[in-house]
Amino acid sequence: MVIPDHYAVMGNPIAHSKSPQIHTMFAYQTNQNLIYTPILVEVGKFEEAITVFHNQGGKGLNITIPFKNQAWSLMDKCSSEAQRAKAVNTIAIKEDGSLFGYNTDGIGLVRDLTQNHGKRISGQRLLLLGAGGAASGVIEALLSEKPSHLAVINRTSAKAIELAARFSPFGTIIGGGHELLENNSFDLIINATASSLHGEVPQLPPRILNPNSWVYDMMYGNESTAFIKWGQIQGAEHCLDGLGMLVEQAAESFFIWRKIRPNTAPIITQLRLKQRDRLLTIGE
Ligand code: ATR
Repeated sequence: MVIPDHYAVMGNPIAHSKSPQIHTMFAYQTNQNLIYTPILVEVGKFEEAITVFHNQGGKGLNITIPFKNQAWSLMDKCSSEAQRAKAVNTIAIKEDGSLFGYNTDGIGLVRDLTQNHGKRISGQRLLLLGAGGAASGVIEALLSEKPSHLAVINRTSAKAIELAARFSPFGTIIGGGHELLENNSFDLIINATASSLHGEVPQLPPRILNPNSWVYDMMYGNESTAFIKWGQIQGAEHCLDGLGMLVEQAAESFFIWRKIRPNTAPIITQLRLKQRDRLLTIGE
């Protein structure tokens, strides 16, 4: 028997992660001999965890909250997207042990919006909430779709201002605090803060949405996130969670590792059905 290649996702928390399920379904669909496991990493022990995984023969990693930025700082080499984002969500471990970092979040978000949901981004007024690793990972991909402008706001406004300065060569981008929301409305609001993890919603005035606005939470859960509920109450036309983005970014990681592109649509459908079944069970 050929020993399967080992891949994993590292984060904290990690129990909620659907990545093991998704990559296992990809492997089955594409006939790849691999296993994919979740690894809970203590904050402060990330570098050690990567070394242990590598010493055990691991081939690749996904990185999630709160380690994307630290992962970037530990890479031997990075793709240009990861380098500009200063955030890595995918690591390929080469034969010689060197670490190559990528960021597939941006492509995952844009594919989910444009291909899975038919949302046009070009010419649209975009608002991105948050300025951490999750936010920085998607800015370049969003700007490459040529929105009319992208506003980035954050609780700590200095971080949003820094991101806007860093990505200004790629399009019209402005960063700051809540003052940017005054007398402005947006066609698409994307939540890249960690607030949904705590069941919270970033403070936002209601008038920033119009009836055609879309709301997208990069987080996902078995139930609607607090941000999705906020969008529904505000009357957004569409409120999407990050499950599609999760599957699309995973597909791009899988392609980097295995050079095979899985078909994402049936996997998203299957996960949605499981989500619904789970809700029905909990509701009964
Ligand atoms: P990630 O890699 O997931 O982006 P991070 O780098 O720790 O994680 O960034 C978390 C982001 O969520 C930050 O933008 C943070 O705002 P601050 O920079 O002001 O800390 C934001 N965030 C977390 N909880 C939040 C909340 N309850 N309301 C608004 N923003 C929140």
